[in-house]
Amino acid sequence: MKQIVLFASGSGSNVENIAHYFRDNPKINISCVLTNKRDAQVIDRCNRLKINVLFFNRTAFYETDCVLSILKTFDPDLIVLAGFLWKVPEKLIDAFPNRIINIHPALLPKYGGKGMYGFKVHQMVKENKEEKTGITIHYVNNAYDEGAVIHQAETSILQTDTPETIAEKVHRLEYEHFPKIIEKLLL
Ligand code: GAR
Repeated sequence: MKQIVLFASGSGSNVENIAHYFRDNPKINISCVLTNKRDAQVIDRCNRLKINVLFFNRTAFYETDCVLSILKTFDPDLIVLAGFLWKVPEKLIDAFPNRIINIHPALLPKYGGKGMYGFKVHQMVKENKEEKTGITIHYVNNAYDEGAVIHQAETSILQTDTPETIAEKVHRLEYEHFPKIIEKLLL
């Protein structure tokens, strides 16, 4: 059985979508969801879905080996950042080489880097009158949003689109592609 650990900081709609996708798969299991936000909506989702969820703070992540030890206990085949907003420390990347992936809500290298996450990305895309946007699934390395690209998918932007409708289009792409790419990497 392949094991996945997910990291999430917010709503967790991708976590829920991934959980639904693998629910009846006997070969892939979500061991746990880790969150750095104690009131994140993802916690409610995990409660409802009966998925293990753990909260950690900055000390556990950056200053001690607490999160590292937890991950080693789960021994995941893949660590998936699904709307996780903290930079991953080098010790975790070194401990799980090519086993940590992230989804970014734009076509990297555009609209990536520190401070570029979630809705802000869609606002910038709209402000800059881009004609297309999309998603990037990539390996996580020590440079924010710069790891090797695994998969990208695009959607067009109409003049009538708002940051909200762009966000919806991007989320739809995420729901369609992210679980399939995870599955492909695991099997
Ligand atoms: C997703 O759109 C994901 O691409 C983005 O956060 C959102 C989380 O949504 N990630 C980043 O911006 C990472 N830099 P969700 O909590 O509903 O899954």
